[in-house]
Amino acid sequence: MPIPKAELHLHIEGTLEPELAFALAARNHVELPYADTEELRKAYLFEDLQSFLDLYYSLMAVLRTEADFEELADAYLTRAAAQGVRHAEIFFDPQAHIARGVPIGTVIEGLSRALERSEERHGVSTRLIMCFLRDQSAESAMETLEAARPHLHRIIGVGLDSAEVGHPPAKFKEVYEAAAALGLRLVAHAGEEGPPAYITEALDVLRVERVDHGLRCMEDPALVERLVRERVPLTLCPLSNVRLRAIDMLEDHPLARMLDAGLMCTVNSDDPAYFGGYVDDTFHAVHEALGIGQEQLRTLARNSFEAAFLDRDAADEEL
Ligand code: HPA
Ligand code: ZN
Repeated sequence: MPIPKAELHLHIEGTLEPELAFALAARNHVELPYADTEELRKAYLFEDLQSFLDLYYSLMAVLRTEADFEELADAYLTRAAAQGVRHAEIFFDPQAHIARGVPIGTVIEGLSRALERSEERHGVSTRLIMCFLRDQSAESAMETLEAARPHLHRIIGVGLDSAEVGHPPAKFKEVYEAAAALGLRLVAHAGEEGPPAYITEALDVLRVERVDHGLRCMEDPALVERLVRERVPLTLCPLSNVRLRAIDMLEDHPLARMLDAGLMCTVNSDDPAYFGGYVDDTFHAVHEALGIGQEQLRTLARNSFEAAFLDRDAADEEL
């Protein structure tokens, strides 16, 4: 039985398995530049974040209708339930779809159809977090927030993802202020490929409540001390870090050192269709590679509920 856990760092577009990609391509008459699923899987050898993002964005071409987004989310929730996930806070990238002519309403309403049934069907409660693409302009992010206004009851918060280096958090100060004024919760990717200073900026300028990845905080002892003191949750994704070459091998991952330092770590799957495992697979992998024992695995699971955007009573029930 997998440990019950919450998943807090999961891009729904990154759960698009090759089989579903080909099924949707056929349904929507989209031609993929791969002969079959095997050939597509062979393309999953990434040099860095950007080389992954290129494939990740191009494969989204198959997602066109509400039914496609519903099927994508339902497939993830089925897998997540089998991995012990009881609560999932799910990222989506509206700008990547709007750019292809798919309206934001199609994305949000399609995903929501699956999410609404999730507790009953899969025993998984859910929230949606809308991410801005940081390699696009701050104006585009603000327009996206505006476009989401009719659907805000479906969204718990906003995040920031895509190519990190050269796109510091401060670029999005205004849109984060606007999101906060709308009552949205705030998170951002920081310190995945970008420097520790981006983590500080996400906290001080964007006022995020959780940091997605945050891996590179380990290069700055004063920052680690602050994150421990303020109990800032980090949504780590160890398999992603290996596949995107932030680290060479899982055996080199600092997760054990981060836990020993007292950081509020959680373990998540990021883009599991691309990175070789869903969240419980990741728990197993860090147990094997890093000797993270049962007690620490339980700490990671407990942290995931504590860091979730659940009300206190619901989180305590899971703990
Ligand atoms: N980092 C940044 N952007 C992303 C990622 C990631 O790991 N996955 C999907 N978009
Ligand atoms: Zn991510």
